[in-house]
Amino acid sequence: MAKTPGGTNREGPRVSRRGLLQGSVASGAAALGNFAGGAAQAQADAQATGSTTPTVSFSINGKTQTATLDARTTLLDYLREDLDLTGTKVGCNHAQCGACTVLIDGARVNSCLTLMATLEGSEVTTIEGISDEGELHPMQQAFIDNDGFQCGYCTPGQIMSAIGCVREGHAGSAPEIREYMSGNLCRCGAYKGIVAAVEQARDQVEEAG
Ligand code: FES
Ligand code: FES
Repeated sequence: MAKTPGGTNREGPRVSRRGLLQGSVASGAAALGNFAGGAAQAQADAQATGSTTPTVSFSINGKTQTATLDARTTLLDYLREDLDLTGTKVGCNHAQCGACTVLIDGARVNSCLTLMATLEGSEVTTIEGISDEGELHPMQQAFIDNDGFQCGYCTPGQIMSAIGCVREGHAGSAPEIREYMSGNLCRCGAYKGIVAAVEQARDQVEEAG
């Protein structure tokens, strides 16, 4: 399960809160995954092939790879446990919080309810894949500029969802952003900064496509 968000470090070196959180956004830094459909498809594939360990080819952050997996493996578990891409967070594990949001073929999904067996030929983008040679993605920078986080735990999912929200054309106004970002929960209540961040980065994300 996820490590404690925002846990204190009484013995470690002192760092400023802003520095710590900027690091979290940089390194770490919703739509529901179609789990039922994915599970049915995985089951159908297993029945058709007689295999419960399908071999799947996909791309993650631009890197093509092939893996033979248990048919029940979720994308979230694969990212965190197999690839050590821990920027994508575990929250509810039930498509309720958005902490695990990633992009698949440009669309935002909850990776906790997305089965790897359904990703043949798909392109997955995680929070680790959006910066450009060390330069923050405009949405990452906007979250920093607008204090769009406190503990930072929900932030990778918020950022990925925000990019998807803009690309969908659902970031035209603050009320629209609030509506279309409502699948991403923030226990710290940083919603005001999150909306401001999406508004700041909107044009740049739209131009980038
Ligand atoms: S962990 Fe996936 S939606 Fe909460
Ligand atoms: S910043 Fe703490 S949960 Fe969102």
